[in-house]
Amino acid sequence: MSPSTLRRAAIAAALALAAGGLAACGDDDDGGGSSTSSSSGEAKQIALLLPESKTTRYEAKDRPAFEAKVKEICENCEIIYSNADQDAAKQQQQAEAAVTKGADVMVLDPVDSASASGIVNRAKQSDIPVISYDRLVTDAEIDYYISFDNEEVGKLQGTSLLEALDGGDGKSIVMINGSPTDNNAKLFKAGAHSVLDPSGVKIEKEYDTPDWSPDKAQQEMDQAITSVGKDKIDGVYAANDGTAGGAIAAMKGAGMDVTKIPTTGQDAELAAIQRILAGEQYMTVYKAITPEAEAAAELAVAIAQGEEPPSGLVNGEVDNGSGMIPSVLLKPVAVTKENVKDTVVKDEFVEVSELCAGEYAADCKAAGIE
Ligand code: GAL
Repeated sequence: MSPSTLRRAAIAAALALAAGGLAACGDDDDGGGSSTSSSSGEAKQIALLLPESKTTRYEAKDRPAFEAKVKEICENCEIIYSNADQDAAKQQQQAEAAVTKGADVMVLDPVDSASASGIVNRAKQSDIPVISYDRLVTDAEIDYYISFDNEEVGKLQGTSLLEALDGGDGKSIVMINGSPTDNNAKLFKAGAHSVLDPSGVKIEKEYDTPDWSPDKAQQEMDQAITSVGKDKIDGVYAANDGTAGGAIAAMKGAGMDVTKIPTTGQDAELAAIQRILAGEQYMTVYKAITPEAEAAAELAVAIAQGEEPPSGLVNGEVDNGSGMIPSVLLKPVAVTKENVKDTVVKDEFVEVSELCAGEYAADCKAAGIE
């Protein structure tokens, strides 16, 4: 095997692992010897457009993993990076700037899944292929889509919450969903409802949280506590760790014992895992972002160089309203106190030295993390 074939096989294997049963994996490597690295000719420009910086994943994980992978496999590639700080108009301008700079491919994680079709149309005018990254751009002719199984994320959250509530029948919860302009948030919500609705749990209040803002989630929870009553809330569905943090702060502020009120989350942020170890948050959803970002980098480099995607990478298709989009779909994992050690710690998604610092040392010890 050539080094590039080996590398592809390794990535395909990692993805197959991450994607579990979903991966249509096989060892049908094309063996065509086409290399993903190139050292001659004009530099290839790869635009990476991320949506926001309040959720820690984007700057701390997606960006560095993507950049490192591109650097590793393509000497001759340059990255045009931008972060839209949750502003769809700003993202539109950043995309325009990337087109002007001569992007050969655009990796786009949209702030607004619907209005980003304008960005895709603009890219297409200049013959720039677009990879929809993590969030689906709807009703637009994107070339590829890479994400986790997002309905599954919602199902994991809902199922965990019901487990923590002894099945949920007769219990009362508040639902704090994500941003109404993020297609993923719709899928998380749909997945969660698919398990919560038939369970007999009572959804007392439900909110969509603009911009995924933790502050707004806190206000929503304050409002729910006032209207439902602080003794009548048994659990909280929060769509990600940022909104979970807001909801938990509101409950603490109202004098509620958050160790008795299970709250869900997503993203396995450091602060959330610490809350889980301390018993303040019940669960999070771990999405192995490095393989997601690396797959996007592999795909982007191949496309920028006018090649086919590495074999084994694309493992499904998703309907975005304009057609079936070849997709790379990865598998999310539910994390509670019981498996922090065997998931995010084992994968070094979080640093033990950071996780177990200061007041969390004892909680780490109790969870067998040292
Ligand atoms: C979603 C993403 C999540 C989370 C959230 C908040 O689209 O899939 O991982 O980060 O946005 O920005």
